[in-house]
Amino acid sequence: MFAFELWREFKLSIAEIFKVFSKNGNTVFCDKKILILDGISKEELLKKVKNIGWSIKVMKVSLVDNDIENILQKNIWLETHEWKFNYAMNIFWKSEIGHKELLRISKKIIKEHGKNPRFINQDFKNISSVAIIKEALIKKWTDFNFIFTWEKTYFWHTIFVQDIYGYSNRDYGKDRDMNIGMLPPKLAQMMINISGWKNIYDPFVWLWTVLIESVYMENKKVYGSDLNERMVETSKNNLQNLKKYFSFDSNIIFQNAKYIHEIDFLNEVDAIVTEWYLWEIMTQNNISLERIEKQRKKLSELYEWFFSGLKKLNFNGNIVISFPFWEMKWKYFYFEEIYDIINTYCKTEKLLPENIEFLETKSGSLLYKRDSQLVGREIFCLQLK
Ligand SMILES: C[S@@+](CC[C@H](N)C(=O)[O-])C[C@H]1O[C@@H](n2cnc3c(N)ncnc32)[C@H](O)[C@@H]1O
Repeated sequence: MFAFELWREFKLSIAEIFKVFSKNGNTVFCDKKILILDGISKEELLKKVKNIGWSIKVMKVSLVDNDIENILQKNIWLETHEWKFNYAMNIFWKSEIGHKELLRISKKIIKEHGKNPRFINQDFKNISSVAIIKEALIKKWTDFNFIFTWEKTYFWHTIFVQDIYGYSNRDYGKDRDMNIGMLPPKLAQMMINISGWKNIYDPFVWLWTVLIESVYMENKKVYGSDLNERMVETSKNNLQNLKKYFSFDSNIIFQNAKYIHEIDFLNEVDAIVTEWYLWEIMTQNNISLERIEKQRKKLSELYEWFFSGLKKLNFNGNIVISFPFWEMKWKYFYFEEIYDIINTYCKTEKLLPENIEFLETKSGSLLYKRDSQLVGREIFCLQLK
């Protein structure tokens, strides 16, 4: 069994993990922090998990009894460790036992075996992904986890942690415009996974985030277009550079997405994964209903053309797309015009599995928003009717 530690936007994590492991994975447990699946082999897991944007770490776990001392005695394989070794203990969800107590019991057991361990949790809290990577705990099998659910306890070690350095290099390595919302690589990866990720087309390539992530995910063909010639050129060059490291084909053209029906490669595309403007980043000082409405109007004009154009071409792949919503005075304002457009042209695919207690929004989407930002993203998976 494998336990995934989920991000704060846990519904996005769940949707993505289920999509990636939809063939074999069976749910054992699911809450806001942890999803446990069985039915997947370790090989399948390790092959796919590096391309999952929305899971913090993955633990191999087994069902255990509640005798902590016994669990640790049996499972920390002292004979394989050096005399001095680093380890961490993490606790998920409520438990009567805290990190201090775990430290006491584990140190006692380890010392009884004549070893000298270093407990690396700071302030008696779970350790961060950065610390797991820095201390190389995965290789040593010494990042231990207790998952206490209401009824059962699961225990064992971490086998994968997300490559946070890779994501941030890919994110900050780009030429950026801080006045426009940018799609984070992790979110792009999650959207690609939701789409089923084969031949991907992004009709608003801009910083080519979607296309690059899809190449990292071993996609063999990527398509893109944009209205801005400089972006088309930059994308072409950047993808060309990427070809030194990955083998794939790309087709990037200059095209106004309003006239998407003119595109002649759509029959080769499996899925459209995209985000047009989140629009300017608004601040508490300049956000207003008037500004929001102006943006909604402009966005809906283009999307009406966009979806009717796709309809003309009978595009039959998935369309994974993010639309903005706004927060003003602690209230969310949704892009309501888009709901009518979607209802006219598309059906909405359910993003979360049936057998869990969580639901999508009323419109069938999942939301992503950082507390510090006033614009969030509403993510849909659509198919034309
Ligand atoms: C905010 S960016 C898109 C974000 C992008 N998906 C990413 O990687 O982060 C908006 C892009 O849409 C392009 N654009 C604006 N209007 C367009 C239109 N009508 N047709 C095609 N591209 C358009 C802009 O040139 C810009 O590159």
